[in-house]
Parts: sequence; structure tokens; C-alpha cells
Amino acid sequence: MPYKFSESLQNLRMSPIVSISEKVKTLSPEFKARTGKDFVLFQRGEIDLPTPAFIREAAKQAMDAGYTKYPKSGGEDVYKDAILKKLSHFNKAGNLSRENIIATYGGQEALELAFKLFEGQKGVGFAPCWSVILENFGPYCSTNFVQVPLNSDFSVDYELIRKELKDAAFFYLNTPQNPSGKLFTKEEVNRIVELCKENDVFLISDESYEYITYDGRDHFSPISLDYENIISAFTLSKTYSMTGWRLGYVVTRNQSISRLFRLGDYTQTAGVTTFLQYAAAEALSNIEESTRSVDSMMKEFTQRRNALCIGLKQIPGIEFDYPHGGFYLFPSFTKLIPEKLSGTARELYIYNKLMEAGIATVYGSSFGNHFADYIRFSFSATKVPVIEEAIERIKKVFA
Ligand SMILES: Cc1ncc(COP(=O)(O)O)c(C=O)c1O
Repeated sequence: MPYKFSESLQNLRMSPIVSISEKVKTLSPEFKARTGKDFVLFQRGEIDLPTPAFIREAAKQAMDAGYTKYPKSGGEDVYKDAILKKLSHFNKAGNLSRENIIATYGGQEALELAFKLFEGQKGVGFAPCWSVILENFGPYCSTNFVQVPLNSDFSVDYELIRKELKDAAFFYLNTPQNPSGKLFTKEEVNRIVELCKENDVFLISDESYEYITYDGRDHFSPISLDYENIISAFTLSKTYSMTGWRLGYVVTRNQSISRLFRLGDYTQTAGVTTFLQYAAAEALSNIEESTRSVDSMMKEFTQRRNALCIGLKQIPGIEFDYPHGGFYLFPSFTKLIPEKLSGTARELYIYNKLMEAGIATVYGSSFGNHFADYIRFSFSATKVPVIEEAIERIKKVFA
């Protein structure tokens, strides 16, 4: 008898970013042999800075202290207390307790638990959208995920949201946003939450890039608002360059949801590695060290963002505003794509040209239906001199 495997697993797709990285590995040696130069990597959202020493030290100490047994269901008290402290001082979110929090393996598990709640139902979110939502969580949870496009300047069309929310279960909001670098303002977040309330829709809030903001702007956190049906996913991955530690947490004021999350988490993973939770507690509660490391990372990212933006602004036809959050730039290349091109040839036109010049980026159609003429540049692992080299190459491509 033929095997019948899970349909939701079979519907999963690998992120295009993974296959782009594989392609770069193949092309790099040939490019180096031909030009004597290295590929410039703008495709991954992986920070090149080390995890701060105070967090690494805390992990070693926790391991030596014997925190190597099964973790407490839902998360260790020490981690949850540090999260509560951080939620209060950074996110301005009060009236929360340990029961509102579940420790997770990164933002990814936090979001997966949230999507799983609404299995088989309709979800709405902005395009452009983080590719994992489209390729993984949507199909895995059989979500009918409807994309509402941001305007070309990434402003919000509230009427479009209103129309789609009528029969939806949840809205997914990611601020600061991957791939656009948009930081939603307090007013925008408030209006989106009001629309959710009016339509009795849950908000899944992805705040992975909450600390990565520019020009004195601050992240406004939906979980600070007094609406019970908000589920906020957080991670330490981006704030402290800890992508490989897989540490995050999910927060909701809705007690029925946190009960279900505890069961879901127990079933999937039986909790997050105990000694890592102790290190995470140190990362969140040692405000002095935490501020020092975030400030130093942001100094570096600001220089990279500025170098990339100043350079690309010199090239006619590439259109964008400076991003206010995250470590991504998502310009439109419409003016540089031949008008007659359509379909895949159009989607890959700029990406392929940049690849030929030894520059790896991600094509816009990886992020949904509406931004195929755009290209995502991640400057998470690309230092200023390398960015400047890339600008010179891009100038030549479009000269
Ligand atoms: C928008 C967004 N949300 C969530 C995540 C999850 O990150 P992690 O699972 O490493 O915490 C990422 C990672 O790239 C992301 O870009």
C-alpha cells in the first residue's frame, strides 16, 4: 500500500533565501577565478557580530551550576521574570504575569504556535511579507493567508484591511518589518489594533526586530495596548546576535491561549534548554550590559544602512526611502526593468544582473504578490567597505 504522508508537511516549501545561498556557494569559486573578487552577500538575515560576552558567560555559568535538567513547563521562573522586567521597561507593557508568557525556541516557534491556533482559518497580513509566513506557517497550518499590499511608499491602506478582516480569524503584523524595513508608527499600530477589535480578530504581532530602529525612532509595541486578543512573538536572535541559540518567547493577555500554548510547546519540544533560559534571563535583565551591546550594534548598522542608501541613491532609477527599522533595504527597480518583460523573466531580471556582478540579494516575489519589481538587501552581515565595493559594481551594471 502506498504511504500517505501528512498533507500539511508536504505543502511546506523551502525559503527562496536558502536556495539563493546554495546558488552563491556554487557561483562563488567561478566568480573569484574570473574576477579575483569575492561575492558580496546581501541575502541572509544573519548578523555577523558575536553574541555579547556577558551572555556567553552566563550560559557557561548556568551549565556549570547544573541547570541541565528538564525545563519547567512553559519556561523557567528566572527567564519569565526577566521577560516581565523587559516588557515593562522597554515595551511599556504592564499588568502581565508569568502566566502570560511561554518560553519558545526563537521567534519561529512563537509564531508557529500562534499560527497553529487558527488552523484552517483565514489570516490577513501585509505584502510584502516575511517569506517563512508564506512558504511555511501558512501551508503548515492550512491557513488561507490573504495579502493586503502596503502602498508603494509602504504606507497603510486601512480600507483594504477593513474589507479583508470581516471573515478573518487573525491579522499578522511585523514591525519593524522584514523585508521593507518599515517601522509602523504608534498611530498606525493603534489603527490596526482598532480594526482588529472592531472585527473581533486576533492580532499576531511579530516584534523580532524591536530593538533595531534608527534616527531616534522607537518601536511601538502592540502588547502595550489593552486588548486581550494580541499574541506577541519575541526573540533574542536579532537583538543580541543569538540566531543559533534559538531563544524567544510568546506573550498574550488571553489566558485560554497561554494554556493552549503550554500544551503545544510541551508536545513539540517539552520546553527550551534550561541553561540557555538562564543566559537569556541575564541578557534581558542586565540592562546596563544589554544597552551597551545594542548601542554598539546599532552604531554599526546605522553606518551600514547609510552607506548602502547613500550609494544606491546615486544610481538613477532605484527608488526608496531610508528604512527606519530592521537591517533590510527594499528598493523598487521598476524604472530599470524593461517594460515588455513579464512573469518570471521580470521577477528575476534585476536579481540575475546583480548575481552576474557577484552580488547576492533576494528577489521581491519571495515576499508575496505585490512587490515583484523590488529587491531585498540585508546589511546584517555586510561591512561598510564591502557595501561600498558593491555600490561600485551596481553602478557599472546600470551604467
Ligand atoms: C520577520 C521575522 N520574524 C521572525 C523571525 C524568527 O527569528 P528566530 O526564529 O531566529 O527568532 C525572523 C528571522 O529572520 C524574521 O525575519
